[in-house]
Amino acid sequence: MKIKNICCLGAGYVGGPTMSVIALKCPEIKVTVVDLNESRIAAWNEENLDNLPVYEPGLAEVVNEARGRNLFFSTDVDSAIEAADMIFIAVNTPTKNYGEGKGMAADLKFVELCARQIARIAKSDKIIVEKSTLPVRTAETLQTILDHTGNGYKFEVLSNPEFLAEGTAINDLLNADRVLIGGKQTESGQKAIQSLVDIYANWLSPKQILTTNVWSSELSKLTANAFLAQRISSINALSALCEATEADVDEVAAAIGTDSRIGSKFLKASVGFGGSCFQKDILNLVYLCRYFNLPEVANYWEQIIILNDYQKYRFAKKIITSLFNTVSGKKITFLGWAFKKDTNDTRESASIYVAEHLIEDGAEIHVYDPKVSEQKIKADMRYLWEEKGLTDQKIESKLKQIFVYQSPLEAAHQAHAIAVLTEWDEFKTYDWNSIYINMYKPAFVFDGRNILDAEKLASIGFQIKGIGKG
Ligand code: NAD
Ligand code: UDX
Repeated sequence: MKIKNICCLGAGYVGGPTMSVIALKCPEIKVTVVDLNESRIAAWNEENLDNLPVYEPGLAEVVNEARGRNLFFSTDVDSAIEAADMIFIAVNTPTKNYGEGKGMAADLKFVELCARQIARIAKSDKIIVEKSTLPVRTAETLQTILDHTGNGYKFEVLSNPEFLAEGTAINDLLNADRVLIGGKQTESGQKAIQSLVDIYANWLSPKQILTTNVWSSELSKLTANAFLAQRISSINALSALCEATEADVDEVAAAIGTDSRIGSKFLKASVGFGGSCFQKDILNLVYLCRYFNLPEVANYWEQIIILNDYQKYRFAKKIITSLFNTVSGKKITFLGWAFKKDTNDTRESASIYVAEHLIEDGAEIHVYDPKVSEQKIKADMRYLWEEKGLTDQKIESKLKQIFVYQSPLEAAHQAHAIAVLTEWDEFKTYDWNSIYINMYKPAFVFDGRNILDAEKLASIGFQIKGIGKG
């Protein structure tokens, strides 16, 4: 079946960029991205492309070319569902924060609502594509809901997990290592797979498009994220040993990375990984393993999260011990708040947890991030403290320990220490001499990303401490 009309439920970090690229590369297909969040859709429709809700290098150019031609953003979910031959589900699947599986399982309520809405509205056969990251066997749940609550039309469910990383999303989509499509082994299942293959074939070669059964596709996504995060926790674990032994973690990573069996990517030691995916997806994997009574497997993967929490805590503790065992009343400047460079996303950013530890010890946190607003930074901390059950009064009082600036120089003025939380390129280009002059002495720099020139900073007079640097 040749697809002429696509609808995507969810206009977030995945739905927005993926559909923009599909629209760009398939001008004959009408692509409508819908969301319940009106302000998000309004932002996608903003004339000024600087105000798109997602910041991604190259995204504005893609949106500019396709929007209004064959790419549309709307809150009219029902009309978009009705008109579509193929519907992508790209809604959020956060960790459950209530009830059964709290803190571990993926919350599938938004996905379930999508299935019920599609079934209710559909007046023709449709292909449903799982784009959200889902626990293995979710397609079965979706099929059951669609078949039992629909109007007698046929739904073919495919799994097509997304592998883009934020900050490089457009490049990852245009030059994907691979696209994965899972479907049923029946004739209609294979036809549905082919319809989606034909879409990606507009810009990817056949060998980049892998097809599998549905369960392998669903499980591959959780597995890919678990393997990637495992590499970071492995190198971060060794960073602690490097600090104790005067080995240099970047040298160790370079040495092992040249082994072609290991490879050099994803071995950058850091203050800890963040982002909306790694932690959530590993917790989900651990939950699934326990559900299927595989406790040893669950414990193995859980260790990645335990180590990541340890790494964030270790970084905060090093700041406190270096500053003579207290940061009470001291000004600590955070360079960066986003979970990685080139994104305005802050979900699960290490900065949130490091800030919490330091605020607990009485520090004032003075933040500069090129893309994250004061409102967002404070909302992140408020959410954390609300989840921990702090009273409103207590939260308001803690928020008074956070200050946000438009300029790095202002943020660092009269600071006792600077902590680099995000690897934004611009941090490397600052006039570190001027920053030094305006700081309290000894002036400390804690480089949580190992991006600064440590020798140069030491020659200026800074006490510089990196990750995994003996
Ligand atoms: P997001 O929170 O940025 O976007 C999800 C959007 O879905 C929200 O705007 C929300 O309002 C909307 N939504 C929820 N229910 C809806 C409904 N019933 N109808 C219409 N819209 C609805 O989330 P995201 O980062 O785009 O992630 C989406 C999914 O993709 C998740 O499962 C995630 O694990 C997965 N994923 C994310 C990334 C990433 O880098 N962010 C990468 C790969 C996969
Ligand atoms: C990740 C996966 O890479 C992507 O394939 C999946 O689709 C979604 O989840 P994302 O979270 O956007 O993407 O970014 P990623 O580049 O993986 O970085 C995640 C975190 O790990 C960031 O905080 C990053 O700074 C950190 N990181 C990454 C390291 O600390 N060291 C590294 O070597 C790589």
